[in-house]
Amino acid sequence: MPLLTVLTAPDPRLKIKAKPVESVNDDIRQLMDDMLETMYANEGMGLAATQVGVDKRVVVIDLNAGEEGVEPDIIKLANPEIIWSSEETAIVNESCISVPNQYGAVDRPTKVKIRYLDENNTLQEKEVDDIFARCIQHEIDHLDGILYIDRLSRLKREIILRKLLKNNKLRL
Ligand code: NI
Repeated sequence: MPLLTVLTAPDPRLKIKAKPVESVNDDIRQLMDDMLETMYANEGMGLAATQVGVDKRVVVIDLNAGEEGVEPDIIKLANPEIIWSSEETAIVNESCISVPNQYGAVDRPTKVKIRYLDENNTLQEKEVDDIFARCIQHEIDHLDGILYIDRLSRLKREIILRKLLKNNKLRL
């Protein structure tokens, strides 16, 4: 399976709002598998199609990514949407493979109810919390053209973007 190229900020393609998938067919399943391989190669826990320059509402997650000796806990989602969010929120440090080597504290609801098409094109609804809730909100943001740094203060965002540009220049 081919590895896909992950876009990094400030690539303008990361700002594009992705289009819904009509149905989860073999092409979408192949995309999901390629995205999963790409996610692992970049040591991520979640990846949205927007991050590989594909204009489709597709997300893959492995909640156990990076844990040694633990079975993967893979979820493949098309057209994921949040249909309920808890009032309770938490501030947690997030990172993103499209914003390499940086992190920032983001305030998000701790529990959400999601609706999505699974890899068999079956509509699913699920209430999720903890890491799953955090991750799916971050990935749906990607599909809407939003990076976690867009949820930080302007000052913090500019510091991170400046660091990214500097790192890009130093890639000798
Ligand atoms: Ni991300």
